[in-house]
Amino acid sequence: MLSDADVAALYDVLSPWNPALSPGDRFYDTWVMAAGSVLDVGCGTGAMLTLAREQGHRGRLVGLDPDRAALDRARRRSDVDWVEGTAAGATADARFDLAIMTGHAFQCLVTDDALRSSLAAIHAALRGGGHFVFETRHPQARAWEDWNPSNAVGVVAPVAGTDRALRVWHEVESVAADVVTFAGTAADPDGTVLHTDRSVLRFLAPAPLNARLADAGFEIGAQYGDWDRGPLTGTSREIVTVARRR
Ligand SMILES: C[S@@+](CC[C@H](N)C(=O)[O-])C[C@H]1O[C@@H](n2cnc3c(N)ncnc32)[C@H](O)[C@@H]1O
Repeated sequence: MLSDADVAALYDVLSPWNPALSPGDRFYDTWVMAAGSVLDVGCGTGAMLTLAREQGHRGRLVGLDPDRAALDRARRRSDVDWVEGTAAGATADARFDLAIMTGHAFQCLVTDDALRSSLAAIHAALRGGGHFVFETRHPQARAWEDWNPSNAVGVVAPVAGTDRALRVWHEVESVAADVVTFAGTAADPDGTVLHTDRSVLRFLAPAPLNARLADAGFEIGAQYGDWDRGPLTGTSREIVTVARRR
C-alpha cells in the first residue's frame, strides 16, 4: 500500500516541474517571475512556487490546495505561505497581481456551483487588472481516450523513503457530457495494486468557459492553443487562458 505521502512523492516523479524542459512550466514560470505577488490555486506539492523562490522571487507567494499530503510536501519550503483549502475558499484579499492554476487543476472544478464559487473567490483575491492564468484540456482532443491501462508507464519513486519500481496507469470509468471520471492506479511491476484513486474532471469548451469567466467579472486578455502561444484552432489540445480582472 502507498501512504498519502508516498502518493504525493509519486506525483512529483510523474510530473516534475521543469521550465527548462516543459513549455507549459516555462509559460507559467515567466508569469510568476514577472508578478509581484502570486496565488497558486491547486498548488499540489508546491513545485512551481518553490522554484520561484529558488530563482529569487522576493514577493508574496501563496499556495492553496485541499490535499493535506501534497501541502505537507510543499511545506518543506517555509518561505512560501501554504494554505489548506479549495479555490472557492480563497481569501477575499484583492491584492494579488496573479492567480494561476497549473497541471489542469482548473478541471477539478466540476460542478457549475464549484466553477461559480471558485471563479468568484479568485476574482476577489486579485487586484483590479490582476491576471488569472490557467489551462484546461480542449474537449475536442478527447485526451481521456489515451487514459487506459495499455498506456501504463514504469517509474521509480520513493515509497516510505526507499526508491521502488512501480507501474502506473489510468482507466476511464465514465464520460458523461463534459465530465470524465477515471481511476489512477499504482502497482508493483508484477501488477500487485498498491493504490487506486478516482478523479473527476470537467472538459469545458471555449465558449462556455469564456461565458463563465465573463459572468465572474473577467475579460479574456489572450487565449492560446498551446503554451508556446500558438493560436486556438480546431485541432488544439489545450485552452491556455490569460484572463484579467475587470
Ligand atoms: C493535477 S494536480 C496539479 C498540481 C500543481 N498545480 C501542478 O501543476 O503540478 C491538481 C491539484 O488540484 C487540487 N484541487 C482539487 N480540487 C481543488 C479545488 N476545488 N480547489 C483548488 N485545488 C483543487 C488537487 O488537490 C491537486 O493538488
